[in-house]
Amino acid sequence: MIRIEDLSISFGTGRNAVHAVRGISANIAANESFGLVGESGSGKSTVLRALCGLNANWTGRIVIAGQPQARRRQRSFYKLVQMVFQDPYASLHPRRTINNILAEPVAIHKLGDADRRIEQALSEVGLDSHFRFRYPHQLSGGQRQRVAIARALILEPKILLLDEPTSALDVSIQAEILNLLRRLKMQRDLTYILVSHDLAVVSNMCDRLAVMKSTS
Ligand SMILES: Nc1ncnc2c1ncn2[C@@H]1O[C@H](COP(=O)(O)OP(=O)(O)OP(=O)(O)O)[C@@H](O)[C@H]1O
Ligand SMILES: [Mg+2]
Repeated sequence: MIRIEDLSISFGTGRNAVHAVRGISANIAANESFGLVGESGSGKSTVLRALCGLNANWTGRIVIAGQPQARRRQRSFYKLVQMVFQDPYASLHPRRTINNILAEPVAIHKLGDADRRIEQALSEVGLDSHFRFRYPHQLSGGQRQRVAIARALILEPKILLLDEPTSALDVSIQAEILNLLRRLKMQRDLTYILVSHDLAVVSNMCDRLAVMKSTS
C-alpha cells in the first residue's frame, strides 16, 4: 500500500539546509499497522508530512496504492490518505462548529449528502449527534481527537497517517482512542502508519516498526 524508497527530506537550501531525513526505505502492506519510533527530532513527523504532500522538498520515491507520487498532490489523493495530528486543539479551527469542521472536506470534494456523512462519522467515533453544534473549546481533549479522527475518515480514506495521536491526552483517555483506532482499522480495512514515543503503544497497535535515528 505504501512504498518508500531512499526518501530524503530537507528544509531550506544551500548552507542553511537542514537535512531532516536521509535515505529511508520501507514497504507497508495493505491493512498493516506500521510503527515509526525514534528520538525527538529524528524526522518522524517530517516523513508523515512528506507522505501526505505537506512537504514537497524531498527526493526518492513515494508510491501509494501503486501510484508513484509527485511533489504536489491532486485533490483526489486526500480521498486515499489522511493525517491525524498530535494536538487535536491546534488542528481544529476554534471558530467553527464541529458541524462546519466536518462539512468542509465533504464540500471541497463535492461529495454531497453532508448531513448523513457527518452523522455517520460522529457515530463511528462514538460521539452523539448533539456534538455537531458545539465548538472545539466545548469538548474534552479526547472528544476533540475523536472529531479529528472523524474529519479524517469522512472522505473514506484507505490510509491514516497518525502522528502521536494520543500523546497530548490524559493516560486514561489514551486507551479509549487507541481502542477506537483499532476498531476503525478493522471495520474499514485501513492501513496505518503510527508515530509514537510510547513503545508500549506501538507494540500493542503495530505489526512491525521502524526506528529512526537522528542524522546530526
Ligand atoms: N519547518 C522546519 N524548518 C527547518 N527545520 C525543520 C522544520 N521542521 C522540522 N525541522 C527539523 O527537522 C528535524 C526533524 O523534525 P521532526 O519534527 O520530523 O522530528 P520528530 O521525529 O517528529 O520529533 P518529535 O518526536 O519531537 O515530534 C528536526 O531536526 C527539526 O528541527
Ligand atoms: Mg513529531
